[in-house]
Amino acid sequence: MINDYIQKNRDKFLKELFELLRIPSISADSNYTGSMAATAEYLSKSFTDLGADRVEIMPTYGHPVVYAEKIVDESLPTILVYGHYDVQPPDPLDLWDSDPFEPVIKKTKIHPKGAIFARGACDDKGQMYMHVKAFEAMMATDKLDCNVKFIIEGEEEVGSENLEDFIRENKEKLAADVILVSDTGMLSMETPSITVGLRGLSYVEVEVVGPNRDLHSGLYGGAVANPINILNKMIASLMDDNNRITIPGFYDDVLELSETERAEMAEAPFSEEEYCKTLDIESTYGEKGYSTMERATIRPTLDVNGIWGGYTGEGAKTVIASKANAKISMRLVPNQDPDKITKMFKDYFESIAPKGVKVKVTPHHGGDPAVTSPGSIEYKAASLAIQDSFGKKPIPIRSGGSIPIVALFEKVLGIKTVLLGFGLDTDAIHSPNEHYGVENYFKGIETIPLFFEHYAKLKQD
Ligand code: BES
Ligand code: MN
Ligand code: MN
Repeated sequence: MINDYIQKNRDKFLKELFELLRIPSISADSNYTGSMAATAEYLSKSFTDLGADRVEIMPTYGHPVVYAEKIVDESLPTILVYGHYDVQPPDPLDLWDSDPFEPVIKKTKIHPKGAIFARGACDDKGQMYMHVKAFEAMMATDKLDCNVKFIIEGEEEVGSENLEDFIRENKEKLAADVILVSDTGMLSMETPSITVGLRGLSYVEVEVVGPNRDLHSGLYGGAVANPINILNKMIASLMDDNNRITIPGFYDDVLELSETERAEMAEAPFSEEEYCKTLDIESTYGEKGYSTMERATIRPTLDVNGIWGGYTGEGAKTVIASKANAKISMRLVPNQDPDKITKMFKDYFESIAPKGVKVKVTPHHGGDPAVTSPGSIEYKAASLAIQDSFGKKPIPIRSGGSIPIVALFEKVLGIKTVLLGFGLDTDAIHSPNEHYGVENYFKGIETIPLFFEHYAKLKQD
């Protein structure tokens, strides 16, 4: 019944997602505040039109949160769906093959039935909107087996900084049995998986300042500390020859996986060759003693995300810049604490600066790592739902990405999350030409009502 409804409405479901993708909801850029509000409006209207009983656009100090709910029967379990309507900035624009805010469907090797190319197609408008369409299908066919609440935020890509206060202030409203999130991926359509681990994050910006003005590199070169040279040296020293992070104490709280757990992880299908091929690299690179999958999921990392300073215009300019900057992210694993790591970084980075420069470390947002249990009711419900829709039992996997609110939801609301994501690592989220498989979109819409059904049943037993 539900599937008939979804099949009949394929074109409509795509058309509506396209409308949503056309609104450039870039949370990081204040020029788009109007588009953020328009996206919130679009969503709240969708919820109202579909018959949600309480729909609100709730202001925060930043971008608004869209809230909606449908309480069918107080005695039924309540599912709180979380998603985000904001997207990453699309630049560099010249690397896109089509307009990031004018979605088009194109076939790819990995998506032979077509993929939707647009910023936010996968992260997270496409995945979030599957829940709106699943809600529509359940309402239209009178098959809503659980109460449902939606909280769709507009600041995930800038660190969800106002969400903690928001959930603290709205504890009662957000009361639920489980949180359902589609903002992660699966291994492939042939090997469905459920994410059971996310990394945490500590993000810092550093500045190295030398002389009080830019200098002629001939007159002064060799006699003063060049902030760009020094910054590079300092950054390079943060990793040793085995690609281990040298910050004292950095690994102290890392929860090592047992040999059994590592062996289990290694059973997930993964081809190093394919991995390299899709990235046009000859070889992978990383911490000694760990596999590629381990390096990208269960091990902490340190990466420069951006670095700037000095002359970068056309031709040559002989100059020693007065300062140099970099943005650095550290991905964290259970049980590392982002605040502790940020402080460790700051203390160490300041301590390795040579005389002749001043160093400033500014922390940006952070987030706790999260793990969920494959033994839980919600995991079982998700597993059964995927088994029904994909015809295969999913395997649990750890992901390298971060969704800081998952740990926050558990801490503040005491509610566990299930990560029912349908993206693929190759979908180029945050990159030019982001896309989302058309089949992934519809499989998601099909799987969500099955989750509701299985969850309601398992909760009753
Ligand atoms: N949806 C992603 C996180 C993600 C993607 C997790 C794929 C697992 C698989 C989310 O929107 C994101 O980009 N998070 C940020 C962190 C945030 C604090 C800016 C990230 O991981 O960089
Ligand atoms: Mn996301
Ligand atoms: Mn993202």
